[in-house]
Amino acid sequence: MSLTAQEKLADLFAEPAAGQRRTIIRAVDVKKVYRMGTQEVHALRGATLDIFQGEYLSIMGPSGSGKSTLFNAIGGLSKPSSGKVYINQVDVAQLDHNELAWLRCRTIGYIFQSYNLIQVMTCLENVTLPMAFAGLESEEARDKGLHILKLVGLGHRALHKPAELSGGQQQRCAIARALANSPEIILADEPTANLDLRTGEEMIDLLAKLKVELNVTIVSATHDLKMLQKSDRIVWIADGVIVKTAHPSEIDFSKGEVH
Ligand SMILES: Nc1ncnc2c1ncn2[C@@H]1O[C@H](COP(=O)(O)OP(=O)(O)O)[C@@H](O)[C@H]1O
Ligand SMILES: [Mg+2]
Repeated sequence: MSLTAQEKLADLFAEPAAGQRRTIIRAVDVKKVYRMGTQEVHALRGATLDIFQGEYLSIMGPSGSGKSTLFNAIGGLSKPSSGKVYINQVDVAQLDHNELAWLRCRTIGYIFQSYNLIQVMTCLENVTLPMAFAGLESEEARDKGLHILKLVGLGHRALHKPAELSGGQQQRCAIARALANSPEIILADEPTANLDLRTGEEMIDLLAKLKVELNVTIVSATHDLKMLQKSDRIVWIADGVIVKTAHPSEIDFSKGEVH
């Protein structure tokens, strides 16, 4: 007996059995074509991926492979040309303007390679700004902001501006800002690309710590094999297609090979 479309959907989103992981992000056959004049760039050619609540997933791929495009689709920042993205079982394409704003402000925290901090604001102000968008009173926001800055190891720099901080400290501030509204998901697009190896590894350690302490789901893009050790799972993307999934134990980091 074949299942109806309704039954198939219900099956897709059936509650996980005890001990099973809950899918928090589901991308189904996501394609993205950029049109530039007469040229078409196929940035994603049908990416399908489940991301589980509470996992640290790394998306690995060379420059131009489609990592940022996939992030933007997952994060509701740009619409796929076709395919579906579900966050917590909700089809992102069905969200209206306000619901999408809520998703971007409350459900997902974003971290970028270039930190994207507001230079004229202090660390604390950068962190409390998204709280203001979410309607938190300023005193409460200040307390929460200071708490988060301490959590990321930047309590002592709360009143400094980005230009007065090292790259690693600026990225800590950006991580704190991403946590401002207690998101369920952190999307980190090459968060270590502008940092030296040691500082990059500190950032990965911090994200792994936050995953455990805050039970947040972390999705981090990288093209650097050295940044994968702390992941629960690694997905490789090449030329807009997900080509492989592995656990860090399957990777020989000394050779950079997958067993
Ligand atoms: N806004 C855009 N317009 C046109 N082409 C784009 C745009 N953004 C990305 N691309 C192209 O899509 C492909 C994937 O890019 P991207 O997702 O940024 O890859 P990655 O993040 O892995 O470096 C590349 O060929 C890139 O040149
Ligand atoms: Mg990118």
